[in-house]
Amino acid sequence: MKRRFLRLLERAGLIGPAFRTYERLVSLRPGRPAAIDGPPLPPRRLMVRVAGTADADWFLRSGRAAYDAIAAHVPLAEIDSVLDFGCGCGRVTRYWSDFAGAVRGGDVNTKAVEWCRANLPFARFEINRLEPPLAFEDESFDLVYALSVFTHLTAELQLAWRDELRRVLRPGGHLLVTTHGHSYLPRLDAGERTRFESGELVVRWSDVPGTNLCSAYHPERYLRDTFARGFAFVELEPEGARGNPTQDLVLLRKPS
Ligand SMILES: C[S@@+](CC[C@H](N)C(=O)[O-])C[C@H]1O[C@@H](n2cnc3c(N)ncnc32)[C@H](O)[C@@H]1O
Repeated sequence: MKRRFLRLLERAGLIGPAFRTYERLVSLRPGRPAAIDGPPLPPRRLMVRVAGTADADWFLRSGRAAYDAIAAHVPLAEIDSVLDFGCGCGRVTRYWSDFAGAVRGGDVNTKAVEWCRANLPFARFEINRLEPPLAFEDESFDLVYALSVFTHLTAELQLAWRDELRRVLRPGGHLLVTTHGHSYLPRLDAGERTRFESGELVVRWSDVPGTNLCSAYHPERYLRDTFARGFAFVELEPEGARGNPTQDLVLLRKPS
């Protein structure tokens, strides 16, 4: 029923505005208070855009868990520069405040980037467009991570951004992304499930790429055979993206 209604909105060209209204309504729901130790909380609408809820306690705890998941997979002591691609309002970037190297963030959402610029002074932030390029030089970063970003892009945009993120990584640098994998199978309809199980990328609501409504589902075969092209495939940890439950964590390395 919900999907039928969304399809009607899509046909009427109203799906984008309808989803923004939905996010606005979600931001009005009361959330739990949180003890803030660090930068202030972003406005509720910005939190909803990255976390699906304006619950401050979840925003902070899930951001910390996502940072810890990165630290568990990448030797942070050995890196000098990091890019949080699709950083939103800095849910995870805020936990890099003690990092000795360069911290950068980028997002397509101007309001989120402006908030980060004003409130996370230890990092620098850039606005990019829905399509590449980024403003950074070739081989600028040891680590680029994109948490729940490729989950909201069309197949074409994903491959274009994979190549762009590879460009800005140093040889030997890591790309860490999170994806909707096997644990999301129950959300798929029969046709989508068949495609997923045969190794095809499934993308829903591709008319609104970059929004949380557009949802991509990545089977392991697609990740290994298509997405990882140009990289060494280091690992896939099912449901390993701890601050973005229950997404998979995928780690790639740019060859030296
Ligand atoms: C679900 S939110 C996740 C935000 C953040 N990574 C986190 O985990 O808190 C997805 C983010 O990706 C951003 N995004 C979507 N398409 C993008 C693109 N082409 N370039 C940069 N950011 C993009 C959105 O604006 C949004 O901030």
